[in-house]
Amino acid sequence: MERCDALARCSEEADRLTRRYGTPALAEARELVAGWMRDAGLDTRFDPIGNVVGRLAGDGERTLVLGSHLDTVVDAGRYDGALGVLAALSCVARLRERELPFALEVVGFADEEGVRFGTAFLGSAVVVGCFEKDWLGRVDRDGVTLGDAVRGWGGDPEALAAARRRPEELIGYVEVHIEQGPVLDDAGLPLGVVTGIAGQSRAGLTFSGRAGHAGTTPMGTRCDALAAAAGWIGAVEVEARAHDGLVATVGEIAVEPGAANVIPGRAAASLDVRHAEDGVREGAVRALREAALRMADARGVAVAWDEIQATKAVPCSPELTEELAAAVAGTGREAPRLTSGAGHDAAMMSAVTPIAMLFVRCAGGISHHPDESVREEDVAAALDATTAFIERLAKEPS
Ligand code: HGY
Ligand code: MN
Ligand code: MN
Repeated sequence: MERCDALARCSEEADRLTRRYGTPALAEARELVAGWMRDAGLDTRFDPIGNVVGRLAGDGERTLVLGSHLDTVVDAGRYDGALGVLAALSCVARLRERELPFALEVVGFADEEGVRFGTAFLGSAVVVGCFEKDWLGRVDRDGVTLGDAVRGWGGDPEALAAARRRPEELIGYVEVHIEQGPVLDDAGLPLGVVTGIAGQSRAGLTFSGRAGHAGTTPMGTRCDALAAAAGWIGAVEVEARAHDGLVATVGEIAVEPGAANVIPGRAAASLDVRHAEDGVREGAVRALREAALRMADARGVAVAWDEIQATKAVPCSPELTEELAAAVAGTGREAPRLTSGAGHDAAMMSAVTPIAMLFVRCAGGISHHPDESVREEDVAAALDATTAFIERLAKEPS
């Protein structure tokens, strides 16, 4: 818990927690984690994208990977990501003297939220070999390219492809993470075992109209980009409410030229759509793309749609999940099964190895907000369960 507080002090902003990919704040955080890894006797390295990796060798050739992400959203809570990295490190440290039949690795992924460059999972995408080279040309709000950001903190864009892990060298990946939803808190339970992770689509829209004088331009002759975007944002909410389990969010909007007495000539908006079933999510994305065209056409406005990323819904490994549930039960607690509406690096890791996730209750399900909080006894329960999970795997004929 003190380490979560220490990491929370590594921020780009003095008055709130924001820690984006490749920033000095994240470099400071991963140095802290690397130091704690070395203190625990792990061989520690930064991979070419900047993930921090601590390894405890074992008797066998294969590796069980545990971890989560070290980057955060804007004005974030201090447990989203960081708790999973630190919980993994505590469990591995507890097992340091054991001769396990496999190696253990703790990973602090360098970008899961995708706040700086819009593409989520940059860290885990490199680990599973699905990093797309053209992402290196994406620019942040200051015009810095991802390629420059990778080099800027000691990474190597040319080595990204070779950094992928091969399935045959891995046993699995397990991630401890706050639930970021209300289910465990409502049920009065500390832990939950995840059965699957919802798929997510991210897009960027640019509405282009014509700036003009707010006082002299008749309504009928306007091409108001923000009015088109606003009509579309309303349609986003209607579409999401119309389908059970569908969520859609416009989290970012930028208006130009941005003066009270000028008709907006340009409006840029983000879109984030999630659902447990890929067909429902993809249908909603299609419907929202058509809605954007309708809202724009009705106002003489053009709209450009940039499909940034689509991540399919993934099931957790039934075998690993059963082991995890048995480990939780072994600590005397029940562990309800639940799906994750939030995306996680585990979704990426499922491309190369079986995954399991353990959720920790967070107060009111609050997350992506400074009021995010966990109980110390719940974190202790998560450490006991995860350590027991690793010991159960060690007894398995591998
Ligand atoms: O947005 C998410 O689902 C996660 O917090 N990256
Ligand atoms: Mn998050
Ligand atoms: Mn997270």
